[in-house]
Amino acid sequence: MRFDIFSVFPAYLNALKLSLVGKASAGGAIDIAVHDLRDWTEDRHRTVDDTPVGGGAGMVMRADIWGKALDTAFDIDLGRENPRRVLAIPTPAGSPLTQEICIDLARNCDQLVIACGRYEGIDGRVATHYASRAEIEVFEFSLGDYVLNGGEVAALALVEAVARLVPGVIGNPESLVEESHGSAGLLEYPTYTRPLDWRGESVPQILTSGDHGRVGRWRRDEALRRTALRRPDMIAALDAHQLDRRDRATLGQHGWYWRAQPAAGEHPIRPVLEIADDPRLACVYAELAARTFPDACPPSLADADVRAFIAQHLSDEAFAAHITSPRRVIVGLRDEECRLIAYSLSVIPEGNGAAGAEDGAPVDAVLSDGERIGPLIELSKFYLDQEWRGSGLGGMLMTGTLRALSAHTREWERPYIWLGTNAGNKRAQGLYSKLGFELVGRRQFMVGEQNNHDVVMARTLDVSY
Ligand code: ADE
Repeated sequence: MRFDIFSVFPAYLNALKLSLVGKASAGGAIDIAVHDLRDWTEDRHRTVDDTPVGGGAGMVMRADIWGKALDTAFDIDLGRENPRRVLAIPTPAGSPLTQEICIDLARNCDQLVIACGRYEGIDGRVATHYASRAEIEVFEFSLGDYVLNGGEVAALALVEAVARLVPGVIGNPESLVEESHGSAGLLEYPTYTRPLDWRGESVPQILTSGDHGRVGRWRRDEALRRTALRRPDMIAALDAHQLDRRDRATLGQHGWYWRAQPAAGEHPIRPVLEIADDPRLACVYAELAARTFPDACPPSLADADVRAFIAQHLSDEAFAAHITSPRRVIVGLRDEECRLIAYSLSVIPEGNGAAGAEDGAPVDAVLSDGERIGPLIELSKFYLDQEWRGSGLGGMLMTGTLRALSAHTREWERPYIWLGTNAGNKRAQGLYSKLGFELVGRRQFMVGEQNNHDVVMARTLDVSY
């Protein structure tokens, strides 16, 4: 592959004689020619610029000088039929340079000509003229959202990023496999070497365990974590089918979720948590509550009883009353389109909670650590929309709920939260155990004519911040 770089500061590009790129060009794996643009001027001052047409600050580089210079590069015989020639013009107004583009150039381009502008840039007709020629592609690119004094630094970056991918330039192609911006669509995990202890910092122990499976998993989790923190745009572009269950659990810890059965090509979303504090939201909550409540009912319950329960307890009016009550806390999760996809409703007892809860809470229940539970908040409702069950979103809703509740229990000595769930609903019980609840008792209550059996589960309210 051949690189022709044009600049008014050719010495700037001397760095290309160093390191791997320098060796590759000395060894013939690539061919790099740097040209002084002023060699194509004809006046005594070797002028390459002029004032902007239409007025404005600074100087613009002349199309006629650039045209003569670039034509000589594109006239070079590359020794093959229909070579692919690309004219790259660095500019802060260009499209972002990416690894994908560099891979394509390294694999499929025969000649990369780079025109380094200075001052206010190159006369716009240069790009349009070469783009109109069938044998030349024009690529106006930017290194990032900041402005450099000229294109030379960007040219150095482009040559290095492309040249290292040309076969034979890097001795060990293995080192290209797990890089940031590689096929995994993630940033690379952190790497370490000896000494294992340095200034009080030690290398993560798992890396010295010799267990390749665990090391691989740790690296993958670190790559996911880093990418979620630094490049949420890259996470948002991931395809669900690129990731396994563990990947998704790791991303869940960073606030990214997929529906439990994502379609191929489906991207993760970052749900938004809200505390419902405006009665105008009541109908949205009532709608989700009415839709999800039947799923938690035992099959023996009559449809009419379920409908009657919904009409009485999950109506717009009931939710408006909950939202305005100082003893109710409603937390919701919304998807990227602002649809409500999960909610919880908690009931805070009178006083500072010492008196126990409403509705027959098991105030004398004992947790496995021997502590009597109380004061007690009842987690009265905790529902995910059907397609989000099994997505891990329950963890986010629980954390959001506990945090919202902790604002009400600052003065409490050891606040607990309890819930009753249908004794036959093992899936729900499994979920609550995962969310830190344990079985503390049983209770019965009536829906219509039917006596229902619940198990009662509880956990402390503390949540790490
Ligand atoms: N020339 C000036 N700023 C630039 C940038 N951000 N990227 C590429 N070329 C540039």
